[in-house]
Amino acid sequence: MATLQVNTNVLPARNRSGTATGAMERDLHARDRVGVQDFVLLENFQSEDAFVDNLRKRFKENLIYTYIGQVLVSVNPYKNLNIYTQEEVNQYRNIHFFEAPPHIFAVSDTAYRSLTEEGRGQCILISGESGSGKTEASKKVLQFIAAVTGHKAQVETVKDKLLQSNPVLEAFGNAKTNRNDNSSRFGKYMDISFSALGSPVGGNILNYLLEKSRVVHQNPRERNFHIFYQLLAGAEDEMLAKLQLKRNLDTYYYFTHGVEGKVNTIDDCQQFQQVRKAMAVIELTEQEQEDIFAIVASVLHMGNVGFTEEEGQAQILKPECVEAVSKLLGCKTSKLDRAFTHRTIDARGDVVTSPLTREMAIYARDALAKAVYDRLFTWLVMRLNTSLQPKEGRRKEVMGILDIYGFEIFERNSFEQFCINFCNEKLQQLFIELTLKSEQEEYQREGIEWEHVEYFNNKVICDLIEEKHKGIISLMDEECLRPGEPTDKSFLTKMNENLSSHDHYISHRKAGKELQKNMSREEFCLKHYAGDVIYNVDGFLDKNNDLLFRDLREVMSETTNSITKEVFPVSDVTTKKRPDTAATQFKNSLNQLMEILMNKEPSYIRCIKPNELDQSGVFNDRIVTHQVKYLGLMENLRVRRAGFAYRRPYEMFLQRYKCLTPATWPNYHGPSKQGVHEIVCHLGFERDEYRMGNTKIFIRSPRTLFATEDAFQAKKHDIATIIQKIWKGRLQRQEYLKMREAAITIEKWSRRFLAQKEAERRDKAVHIIRNFIKGFITRNGQITEVNKAFVELAKAQYLIRLSKNLPTSLLDKSWPPHPVVCREASTLLHQLHRRWLSRKYRLALSPGQKRQFELKVLAESIFKDKKKSYPQSIGPRFVDDRLTEEQKALRQTFQQNHLNGDKIVYATTVTKYDRHGYKPRERVLVLTNKHLYVLDGKTFKLKHNLGLDMLQELVVTTESDNLLLLRIPPEYKKDKGDLILEVGHIIEAVTKIVDVTKKAHNVKIMEAGTISHNLIGGKQGVIDITTGTSPAIVKGKSGHLLVVASP
Ligand SMILES: Nc1ncnc2c1ncn2[C@@H]1O[C@H](COP(=O)(O)OP(=O)(O)O)[C@@H](O)[C@H]1O
Ligand SMILES: [Mg+2]
Repeated sequence: MATLQVNTNVLPARNRSGTATGAMERDLHARDRVGVQDFVLLENFQSEDAFVDNLRKRFKENLIYTYIGQVLVSVNPYKNLNIYTQEEVNQYRNIHFFEAPPHIFAVSDTAYRSLTEEGRGQCILISGESGSGKTEASKKVLQFIAAVTGHKAQVETVKDKLLQSNPVLEAFGNAKTNRNDNSSRFGKYMDISFSALGSPVGGNILNYLLEKSRVVHQNPRERNFHIFYQLLAGAEDEMLAKLQLKRNLDTYYYFTHGVEGKVNTIDDCQQFQQVRKAMAVIELTEQEQEDIFAIVASVLHMGNVGFTEEEGQAQILKPECVEAVSKLLGCKTSKLDRAFTHRTIDARGDVVTSPLTREMAIYARDALAKAVYDRLFTWLVMRLNTSLQPKEGRRKEVMGILDIYGFEIFERNSFEQFCINFCNEKLQQLFIELTLKSEQEEYQREGIEWEHVEYFNNKVICDLIEEKHKGIISLMDEECLRPGEPTDKSFLTKMNENLSSHDHYISHRKAGKELQKNMSREEFCLKHYAGDVIYNVDGFLDKNNDLLFRDLREVMSETTNSITKEVFPVSDVTTKKRPDTAATQFKNSLNQLMEILMNKEPSYIRCIKPNELDQSGVFNDRIVTHQVKYLGLMENLRVRRAGFAYRRPYEMFLQRYKCLTPATWPNYHGPSKQGVHEIVCHLGFERDEYRMGNTKIFIRSPRTLFATEDAFQAKKHDIATIIQKIWKGRLQRQEYLKMREAAITIEKWSRRFLAQKEAERRDKAVHIIRNFIKGFITRNGQITEVNKAFVELAKAQYLIRLSKNLPTSLLDKSWPPHPVVCREASTLLHQLHRRWLSRKYRLALSPGQKRQFELKVLAESIFKDKKKSYPQSIGPRFVDDRLTEEQKALRQTFQQNHLNGDKIVYATTVTKYDRHGYKPRERVLVLTNKHLYVLDGKTFKLKHNLGLDMLQELVVTTESDNLLLLRIPPEYKKDKGDLILEVGHIIEAVTKIVDVTKKAHNVKIMEAGTISHNLIGGKQGVIDITTGTSPAIVKGKSGHLLVVASP
């Protein structure tokens, strides 16, 4: 253990402006269900069991991805999961790393954005056992990049080439192994160049350590490289004939297992077509393709050459095969023939050719086959690179994808494993350095004090392997070059001598009892950072030397096949300098790669295969634990957890946990840092458990974070209640407002309706009242619509009233009042009524009474308003006879004597005044229908007999006196002038006379004053009429007759 002066805990949380808290945070509380999404959150981070447990839990739920900070751990599902669709691409595109569950797209997106937005070169380091999903992972990264980058034709071409480079490389570099039907048998580093706009414009591929031994030998149940089988299965007969090949796999010696090599899961024929297509895409010419297949075919033919041995010299068994090879590659058969069986050594100028033994010939032939194939592969990569070269020369940002085996530990580990494990040590070194660098940067940025952290730095192991002059590779090279008889054993001895003191080198002797049990004496053990690995030195020197005899190289350099000619340059043959050994070459290319990667921002994908059976759903704890160990994941995690397990920008932390303190809930208005400080103080974080950086809070252990998270989860219910409350309230309020509005609307309309009705009612009422009033006011006017009812009513009521108040007596002249409109009716009715009354009255009258009325009427017509005493005459009945009983008797007599049957109409006593001297005399007046008789009052002696026609005038006064002057015509000589009478009932008397004479006009009513009257002989008498208190008719002093009437 080395004590570093740096904190090596965590990979950089990239300097991105993330916003919301995301998936990882979500994961904090879901941690018990499907494990944690980030191993950093494992409380027991030292426990391998806990680690594997977490992987298993997630694997069972098809959650194949888990983070260790920024490192993605991927477990091969061995089945197609529907998690690489365009939908996922969109989801992971442009969101923060922590915002969604772990995914290879998240890693790809983070790298791509860092590249395009910040211009930082990227590398994605994919490691893992064979069959763990490295190559698939690298393809997913490519898929994502292709999906999110531009779609211009030029970009499409580049993307197409990048994607199509895979089938070609896989055909030549992949094979079916026991671990993986499509196992990459080479390490690959692919650089993708991006334009300033973020579109891929080109690429470059570096290949490492093609497993060329596979060309000549395969382990049980494994196959040679795919291309051989593809060619035999897929090529047209014509092409096969040209290549002199047969389809039968058993034909070829280099197919160790012949037809057993056929694999159900692989459709070689279809794959071949795909490869041909891909070759076209990456712009391999027809000629080039022809040359390539010629080489592939020639390798098969080489395998079949075969040797026998005669007198210790190898003899070619099947010359036709050599012929085929020479024909395909374009060289002289004889020369090739000889090169297969002889070896030329140039020892300090002495050129010596010696024949080969059969064993040596086979070795040489196989070396040639491997070399040809290996160089063909390298040429292909080179050719691909030419095709992928960016067109423009400007500086481009680059994203590298490294797909290389992880630690390999087998039962028997050889040179190849040594190289691969060395490579992984170097990658771990890179990981540490890059991690440290970015950690340091982040701490500086955040102004956090640097802490001393115990941490294992594997530099010491790297040095053990590669240190100049002292390291294993140097020792091996030295041993290879040593004159004499260097062997693998001598190499082991050398190592044991030189390295035994090294802590990480364990020789058989130095090993403890336990280890010794597993180690043979040909083995040594290296304590790699990920664990101990025992190597067997057998074959180390050979493989390191990688010897191809000069004769064969020479023949190859002279071939006409453009490729072999190019990859076996003449200079190689002529140069005196020894080529670098395989290990040194690898070391150098590895260091070059480290340099390339050192300047980039790394992303790590660690692939794990869950079982050896290539089966989905099977999680073998033992196998996984093994890989966890040798992928160095526990070490990764330790590094991550050395300092602070969790860090977040203050804004995010505050946003998530602000509800935990009253000071920050619901909103904190101060700076976020201060808010976070409030939370931290409130929750009572231990002093050592956290640090406050400039923009982030750092929390040391998950325990503290989980406590915080649990508090938050508990609090969430409260918050949920509040949110629910507010939300429900809001809903209800909205509902209420809606209802209220509706109610108001309804109310409004109903009020409006009612108001309208009311208004109508009032209008109607007003109209009625107005009409009523108008009708009332105009009830006396013309009948109109408005007053009609009034009038009708008035009429009806009037009639009713009238009917009850009709006068019952004719004398009652009263008449009930009437409405104006009934004036005429009233008048008419009154008349009618009165007529009816009269009629009734009249009908009830006796003839006497009738007579009486006739006379009264006559009297009225004569005297009404003419004579003052008239009114007194109205009441008393007119009588026919005013004579006393005595006089009646006398009248009887008179009647008998004078009246010859005339009927007496009237008789009364009168006073007669003499015409001369006006002496009053008692007389009786008798009226018949022909005559008027004046009789002596006592004797009834006829004094005057006046025919009625003699009555010229009946003169009375207007006054109330009873004077009656009967004018008699003067020529009527029998009498002695006018007759002056005082008649008691003068009105009655005059009326009777007129009634008989029928000459009302004869009645003269004279004003008070003087009236003259005729005397006999033309003389005139005068009557003075006055009024006075004592009425009398006497002879006045003037000689006139003085009539004093009462006033
Ligand atoms: N993410 C994955 N989803 C589904 N199958 C996968 C996935 N990764 C690997 N596989 C399966 O595992 C096999 C081996 O994967 P591969 O990438 O070739 O391994 P490696 O390159 O590590 O040797 C693939 O052929 C494929 O069937
Ligand atoms: Mg692979």
